Amino acid sequence: MLPETCETLHSASASDEKKACSLRPGRLSEYIGQSQVVESFKIAIEAARKRADAVDHVLLFGPPGLGKTTLANIIAAEMEADIVTTSGPAIEKGGDLIGILTNLKKGDVLFIDEIHRLPKAVEEHLYSAMEDFYINIVFDKGTNARSYRSRLEEFTLVGATTRAGLLSSPLRERFGIQRGLDFYTVEELSKVVERSASLLGVTIEEDGVLEIAKRSRGTPRIANRVLRRVRDYAEVKAGGVITKAVACDALRLEGIDEEGLSILDRKFLETIIYNYKGGPVGLEAIAAVLHEEPDTLVDMVEPYLLKAGFLTRTPKGRRATERTYSCLGQPMPAQTNGQLSLLSVHKGAGA
Ligand code: ADE
Repeated sequence: MLPETCETLHSASASDEKKACSLRPGRLSEYIGQSQVVESFKIAIEAARKRADAVDHVLLFGPPGLGKTTLANIIAAEMEADIVTTSGPAIEKGGDLIGILTNLKKGDVLFIDEIHRLPKAVEEHLYSAMEDFYINIVFDKGTNARSYRSRLEEFTLVGATTRAGLLSSPLRERFGIQRGLDFYTVEELSKVVERSASLLGVTIEEDGVLEIAKRSRGTPRIANRVLRRVRDYAEVKAGGVITKAVACDALRLEGIDEEGLSILDRKFLETIIYNYKGGPVGLEAIAAVLHEEPDTLVDMVEPYLLKAGFLTRTPKGRRATERTYSCLGQPMPAQTNGQLSLLSVHKGAGA
């Protein structure tokens, strides 16, 4: 049965449908995966509600697509609070942040995505706001400068970042709750795909679910995106039902291979193997070959390749692994690893 919120979905146009029924869970009870994080949030939220307090400030870190924004929205929903959403690069001046902070109501959640990209001068206003709920507003300059202390309502700051390491210590230390999000298991992603298929009203067989889950780089956002593409394919080419064969055909068309690697993932690995003999090679050199920003590769590409064992990072640079050669159907060269010099690595081995 379809959830209540999506009952009208079938009569809606494609864009209405997207707006009307986000696949994101709205409550902790609907949230799949990250079980320890969810458990600790349940406790923090219940305790705050009992005391009629705002939840302590929360820092969420981890690769994109794992649910940081979703969790920020869930915290607000569970607290029956409003959420104000912005991002580090969107707040250019101290005045921008002061405007946001002074408009918050008691208990509101302020969500700052990419918080590591807040300008330093802006970040400094956050310290007193987070710790004691006030800000100093400075009028005039030089000898005429006067500063006023302005009280703020108690609020919860939820900061999200793909690069916790880039946060300054004073900012980081002011978050009472700091949690990293991990890649999802295939079982967890299968549940996400099943839930999303049900919300979209699409018929999917068990092995179709598994195929999508296995090839979504441990990331629910990718699983949902892939599901939408496979659904399109199934509707146009296969009578609307997602079987394993339909999923495989659609995924091939999308450039997603059996390991779930995208075209950019494979280009990244091929650059290391073909241009730099397996590495070590610096990130900038890879980025130059691919015409990509190094930051894009660090945020979007490398975390999963590292996690899945397709890449290692050494002090001298990035290196391909035995699994990389296996995945790209290449023999492991002698100079990459003496011990493996006689080993001819075949596709699928070492996975
Ligand atoms: N959709 C995207 N992420 C999800 C999650 N963690 N749980 C359930 N549905 C999701």
